[in-house]
Amino acid sequence: MLKSFILFPIVAALSVSTQAATLPGDAANGKKLHDVSCTSCHNDSVYKRQDRKIKSLAGLTEQINNCEHMTDVKLGKAQENDLVKYLNETYYKFK
Ligand code: HEC
Repeated sequence: MLKSFILFPIVAALSVSTQAATLPGDAANGKKLHDVSCTSCHNDSVYKRQDRKIKSLAGLTEQINNCEHMTDVKLGKAQENDLVKYLNETYYKFK
């Protein structure tokens, strides 16, 4: 009982600061999907350039949707999560 009183604020603080780390999805699977479906028009230099366009997690999700619409690939929500997680962990590092 006492233990949970002590732990609660710690857990609450952690869940705020590690939001991006706890994104849903599987980054390793995201990388596989990316290498198969996402490199026909651009390579990863668009994520690394100085003036890259994406400034937030929401923007990243939206861009992935837009890019997906330009391709023949149809991704499900779970696969989109994997891609967002992969690109965020590897390049964007949004919190
Ligand atoms: C049909 C061609 C095409 C395919 C395939 C494609 N993209 Fe793109 N993508 C683009 C174009 C065009 C841009 C804009 C490039 C620019 O502004 O110079 C872009 C930009 C992006 C950006 C923004 C980069 C920035 O400026 O921060 C992300 C993220 C991205 N694509 C992700 C993906 C993902 C993930 C996939 C696979 C699902 C994918 N793209 C597949 C054409 C494509």
